Amino acid sequence: MRNRRTPELSSSEITPESVFLNRRRLLAAGLGAAGLSAAGSAVPSASPMVGSTPGLSPGEELTPEDIVTSYNNFYEFGMDKDDPARYAHELTTDPWSVEVAGECAKPGEYAFEDIVSGFVPEERIYRFRCVEAWSMVVPWQGVPLRRILERFEPSGNARYVEFTTLYRPSEMRGQRSLFSSIDWPYVEGLRMDEAYHPLSLMAVGVYGKPLPNQNGAPWRLVVPWKYGFKSIKSIVKIRFARRQPKTTWQLQAPQEYGFYANVNPDVSHPRWSQASERRLPSSLFEPNRIPTLPFNGYGAEVAQLYQGMDLRRDF
Ligand code: MTE
Repeated sequence: MRNRRTPELSSSEITPESVFLNRRRLLAAGLGAAGLSAAGSAVPSASPMVGSTPGLSPGEELTPEDIVTSYNNFYEFGMDKDDPARYAHELTTDPWSVEVAGECAKPGEYAFEDIVSGFVPEERIYRFRCVEAWSMVVPWQGVPLRRILERFEPSGNARYVEFTTLYRPSEMRGQRSLFSSIDWPYVEGLRMDEAYHPLSLMAVGVYGKPLPNQNGAPWRLVVPWKYGFKSIKSIVKIRFARRQPKTTWQLQAPQEYGFYANVNPDVSHPRWSQASERRLPSSLFEPNRIPTLPFNGYGAEVAQLYQGMDLRRDF
């Protein structure tokens, strides 16, 4: 039996008309015409979202929507970049429930709609850097992760938060593939201060539309100063923990993927350099290679989180 709960909201969290209970109306509620930018257009320098997008250079271009939604890593649907766009429609994302567990006052099983109800999604245009050295600029719509997590009242013992993706091999063909060596379900984690950083976003939309399945419907993390694998998709569990969670890629190849995974041009992946990246769209003849910035360009905002740490060791 599921014990469905509704998080009690403080009045500051509730929008006047309690706008979005309906997932399909969710984005329309938060984003007027001003919130969206056309595919391929330059980031508008006078737009209201510039304040929330530190690190973007003026004139840096959005990656076209069709690339953002068709060149994906979502190994639950296969290993190739076009597998998620091809097969993710096989996943049912409604209804969607989320288990909350661990060091908090409000553990339980929640309906996704109840968790996000009352929030108006914000637009955040972020650089997104994959560990495989390609990158994009993506207009996400979402809720600051901190505001979501605070609903569950984490206790003083919560030093980390762990996220888990759905495990449903009947609808996620990569999970039933004999060629996959990943130990499902996909797990990621953050230190609480990283999770509470204002740049950490729980995205529910991209390009002004609800997230397509291949991008992590109905919600996924976006942590723009870390390699893309931290930005876990299609989350069904949030656990507050005393100890550092064991994450999928760390378990898979600890010498290649660390817990912190901060974008760092000075620390090469054992099999390739991280000093530069292919900014999509990119082709053989026009590779569009640009230098990679420490913390993906968000150093001024996040470097203080790692003071005193040796990021060559804690990579
Ligand atoms: N989340 C899950 N559950 N499964 C995955 O395979 N891939 C990660 C991350 N989140 C992945 C995931 C990696 S390696 C990247 S680069 C980003 O998702 C890609 O996000 P995008 O497809 O929206 O660009």
